[in-house]
Amino acid sequence: MNFQLSEEHILIRDAARDFANTELLPGVIERDETQTFPHEQIKKMGELGFLGMMVAPEYNGAGLDTISYVLAMEEISKIDASAAVIMSANNSLVCWGLEKYGTEAQKQKYLTRLATGEILGAFCLSEPEAGSDATSQKTTAIDKGDYYLVNGVKNWITNGGTASVYLVIAQTDTSKGHKGINVLIIEKETDGFVVGKKENKLGIRGSDTHSLLFTDVKVPKENRIGNEGFGFRFAMETLAGGRIGIASQALGIASGAYELALQYSKERKSFGKPICKHQAIAFKLADMITEIEAARFLCFKAAWDKDQNKNHDLSSSIAKLYAADACMKITTEAVQVHGGYGFVKEYHVERMMRDAKITQIYEGTSEIQKIVISRAILSD
Ligand code: CAA
Repeated sequence: MNFQLSEEHILIRDAARDFANTELLPGVIERDETQTFPHEQIKKMGELGFLGMMVAPEYNGAGLDTISYVLAMEEISKIDASAAVIMSANNSLVCWGLEKYGTEAQKQKYLTRLATGEILGAFCLSEPEAGSDATSQKTTAIDKGDYYLVNGVKNWITNGGTASVYLVIAQTDTSKGHKGINVLIIEKETDGFVVGKKENKLGIRGSDTHSLLFTDVKVPKENRIGNEGFGFRFAMETLAGGRIGIASQALGIASGAYELALQYSKERKSFGKPICKHQAIAFKLADMITEIEAARFLCFKAAWDKDQNKNHDLSSSIAKLYAADACMKITTEAVQVHGGYGFVKEYHVERMMRDAKITQIYEGTSEIQKIVISRAILSD
């Protein structure tokens, strides 16, 4: 066992930290308030390799491991959780599956541009009536010979308006249940595809979340990823990796809030001394750092499993469950440490508390993680 980060890992972490502080921190409060997508910043993140971190260099990726991804996600999320989810969706929900299961032609056409951030991708599984119950897909992709005819609605799609390429999960053969589900690459300009309303959200307001509408959209067969009926397994495998990204996002939001609370507690005085000298505050800080350390090691463990090509369903769900719940608790306590100042926007922690909530919901709610975890430990 080795708890030491490599020199390369430290360089990546520091580069992400520098980028977050110099490029993402300015304007983060305004972008949250006005729900403004960080176009300029995302472009720069692409140039620096943060949007295709684990993609092989031959497809224009950075060719890094998942530990590097966790480190970068933590640093970006400390400052701007909206930029972090844009990054996470592109890396782990779109690039990963395309690289692993796409054809060479699909990789050349889409992955090479997604990995540099020239274009963004979106992963489209959720529907108005299929959130946690992901097999209940109502979107249909009817086999018409050399193309699929797609009809339906997708909901809560991260990068929904800004993406150019969408991985859409849809039911082809209802009689086969989840084995009749496909995953199709759909380009934004395709006839019959309309980007629907943008959600007005509690948190991660700088990212764009949309519904998507498909009416008689013709998708060529060559745009299917994997064999006929592979779509649900594709979605589940993708999410097992995606959950490492969201666990790292939760870790980053939590550690960002903790660092602000720590600093504030040293500066703010009450009853004649800095508030960190009061045990009530010191113990909150002790609880925070303990949970952050635990969350970080769970993220590293899941990333390591993935990098070793081990099954990471269990470790990614454990990491996401723990980190998301810790994040909600820690950001709420960070507001409490700040007192009245924590309740106003200038001090950042109120935004972090709002951003934290979604980590317990997307890419599988905390309750869904408990289903995955309990099934894994109870199976023979
Ligand atoms: N890898 C490979 N295959 C898997 C798998 C995995 N991790 N998990 C399940 N499967 C397979 C199963 O083996 C099964 O196949 P067989 O019948 O051949 O054995 C099939 O998938 C169906 O699995 P289940 O019977 O377990 O299905 P279920 O209906 O009980 O659901 C679930 C399982 C874990 C609850 C799943 O529905 C789930 O993960 N739900 C949550 C969905 C989710 O996370 N949505 C997030 C949307 S994306 C998002 O949020 C992005 C964003 O905004 C950033």
